[in-house]
Formats: sequence, C-alpha cells, structure tokens
Amino acid sequence: MLAGYLLGSIPFGLLLTRMVGVDIRQVGSGNIGTTNVLRTGNKGLAAATLLLDAGKGAAAVLLARYFGGLEAGMLAGVAAFLGHCYPVWLKFRGGKGVATLLGVTLAAVPLAGLIALVAWLVGALVTRYSSVGGILAAVAAPLAAWGLGAPHSAIALAVMSVVLVWKHRENIGRLRSGTESRIGSK
Ligand code: G3P
Repeated sequence: MLAGYLLGSIPFGLLLTRMVGVDIRQVGSGNIGTTNVLRTGNKGLAAATLLLDAGKGAAAVLLARYFGGLEAGMLAGVAAFLGHCYPVWLKFRGGKGVATLLGVTLAAVPLAGLIALVAWLVGALVTRYSSVGGILAAVAAPLAAWGLGAPHSAIALAVMSVVLVWKHRENIGRLRSGTESRIGSK
C-alpha cells in the first residue's frame, strides 16, 4: 500500500507542464489533472497526463496483484488513488482522481473499467463538462463491478467514488451556479 501510495502520488500533470515552463496550479481550476492541462492548449501533454495518471493506478493494481493476489491489488489501487488525490509532496493538495480511478478499475475489473470509461466519455462529450463525465464514471465503476460479480473491488471503488465526488465539490458548486467551464474553454 505504501508503494501504491508513492506511485499514485507522482503528480504527472504538474511535472509535465513544468517541463514547458507552466505551473499548472496557476492555470484554470488549478487542478493537476488532464482537464486542466488541456486548458494550457497543449493536447499532447493532456493526453500524456491522462495516460500516466491512469497508468499509475493500473500499475499499482497489477503489480500488487502479481505479488499478493486480488485483494492486495485493490488495496494498492486505493492507495494509489489516495496518493494522487492527497500527495505528500504537494502538502496533500493533489488531483481529483478521475484518470487514476479509471486506471484502477480497468486493471481490477476490465469490463467495469470499460463501462466507466464509456460513462466518462458520454458524460463529458454530451455535456462538455469534464467534471460531469468524471462523476458519472465514478458512480458507474463500483456499480458495474458489483453487477459483474466483483464485490470486493466494488466496495473499494465505492470508497474511491466518495472521495472523488468530495474532490469535485467546487465543480459541483460551479455546475449548480452555471459557472463551470466547458471542455475547450479556458
Ligand atoms: O478530472 C478532473 C475534472 O473532472 C475536473 O477538472 O480542472 O475542471 O476542475 P477541473
């Protein structure tokens, strides 16, 4: 779990944008995730952030599962997710967890991961609010895992979903007041 936390705490969005002279925390929402990296206008870095943030979640699950079995994999996945959301290196002010939750889900219960991915894409593309897609994916992931007969993974994913929704509380406030920025706008 410690290794999973440390892997998850690598702030790829921050590190990648720093390479091009940008402090992502001074841009848009200030978040270190894919959506905010996209606001810099650099689609390549946004894609890399998405892949690396999802990849670290998936890697934590797969590595721990290889050495310790399914339950160990999920514990490492939760730890990686918490590492992303609350990294010690950034005084525990990390990302909102969407990509990492998707990576964990894809590695733990692949079909549930695909369902969550579709929920994210449909939610984000239809509304053009990334936060709506992320929250939909977080709701879909544990429900899909449960429906697919993976209750332990579903419980772990449900815990992550609660944290993810909490991390989106400002987005939810902006959605309610109509001030949330849409994908593609600054
Ligand atoms: O993945 C984070 C996304 O759901 C919201 O990001 O930057 O609009 O707060 P942001």
